[in-house]
Amino acid sequence: MNWSLDSYKNYKALQQPNYENKEELENVINELKSYPPLIFAMEANELKNELAAVCKGDAFLLQGGDCAESFNDFSANNIRDMFKLFLQMALVLQFGGSKKVVKIARMAGQFAKPRSSDFENKDGISLPSYRGDIINDCEFCESARVPKAKKMLKAYMQSSATLNLLRAFSVGGLADLAQVHKWNLGFVRRADIDDKYALLTQRLTEALDFFKACGITSLNDARLHETKIYTSHEALLLPYEEALTRIDSLSGAYYDCSAHMLWIGERTRGLDDAHVHFLSGVKNPIGVKIGPNASASDILALADKLNPQDEAGRLNIIIRMGASKIKNLENIFKELSKEQRNIIYSIDPMHGNTQSVNGYKTRKFDDILDEVKNFWHIARANNIIPGGVHFEMTGQNVTECLGGSVGVSESDLARRYETQCDPRLNADQALELAFLIAELMKQK
Ligand code: PEP
Ligand code: CO
Repeated sequence: MNWSLDSYKNYKALQQPNYENKEELENVINELKSYPPLIFAMEANELKNELAAVCKGDAFLLQGGDCAESFNDFSANNIRDMFKLFLQMALVLQFGGSKKVVKIARMAGQFAKPRSSDFENKDGISLPSYRGDIINDCEFCESARVPKAKKMLKAYMQSSATLNLLRAFSVGGLADLAQVHKWNLGFVRRADIDDKYALLTQRLTEALDFFKACGITSLNDARLHETKIYTSHEALLLPYEEALTRIDSLSGAYYDCSAHMLWIGERTRGLDDAHVHFLSGVKNPIGVKIGPNASASDILALADKLNPQDEAGRLNIIIRMGASKIKNLENIFKELSKEQRNIIYSIDPMHGNTQSVNGYKTRKFDDILDEVKNFWHIARANNIIPGGVHFEMTGQNVTECLGGSVGVSESDLARRYETQCDPRLNADQALELAFLIAELMKQK
């Protein structure tokens, strides 16, 4: 294959910033190249093995996190609350669906954002769009919107500290099943969700008591005491990804060591473009977002390029069509079911369901649920395994998405609208969805 670390430069790269100071860019990239990798190649292989189980239908993928991580909201509490939300959702899905849940966070590197428009207009002023904290600043003023290469160094440092805390929480005791009561988040949730969750933790406690009587406890079995949470982000900013891509000394292969899993966005998945070319050369598990205009042959061509050996666990096709267009999936799955390919199909019910209400970018809980349900039914009807879900969510009690049994209304939007990019499910809404998806998983 005609691939080298910087061969992507010969291809068209969409959604890239234009750095004015080329010397600073080069210095930053050289500095990043001298920094340690954030993940280890064998971890990416381990994730690929876990995803191979998802591909066969023996496990389920839960991927989620902020739309965009931010430098301002960087805190131990936010990381802890997202981690707790993951544990709660995974518990609900694993208990309800009787399948191991593979957890991949949109964390520790989810900083670069593709934009539908290069410019943002406000009050008659037009400025370059905000492209995520790794590129420029969110504030609506000219100097803030200039891309600055040095921001990549800060993104690396924040990613490394975030990953460090995630690793510590995973093995340090917070994920211990005996600690399930400590996973609750600090705010009062809706009684019906609370009751369901309390019932589940009670059943878990009974199961743990039984295991204890058999001599199996979290003190002597790490499986009850520890968990694994992998990291992921959109591999959008190619110079950053290049700088963190390293040769694994054991296999001699390249791995993008900025995260365990990387994905390509809906806007940059052109078959002959730079993003697809770049990720075709690294061995990590890869995702590709697929919008409503794609065809089955587009997906197969991406699979040929990104997964020529048809390795199970390598390729995750993340469908994001929107509730009103998910019916387009019918024909696609009909075609794809004729091919016995090792592809994971998961659903991102967020990015096709964005709308504007009172000047706020928002999403309706019912649209999100509707898209998930239709994805499920279309997959099942065509003998395709609904492999996982991909959410934008937060452990905080924000009011960015409308509805859910917690009942966020249009007038609530202003109260806690904190996202720097797309609207996220709050912890209640995310947990409610987990219960509803567990029901879908139970259906034969
Ligand atoms: C995202 O996941 O934040 C995103 C921009 O997705 P998509 O490429 O599907 O629009
Ligand atoms: Co988003």
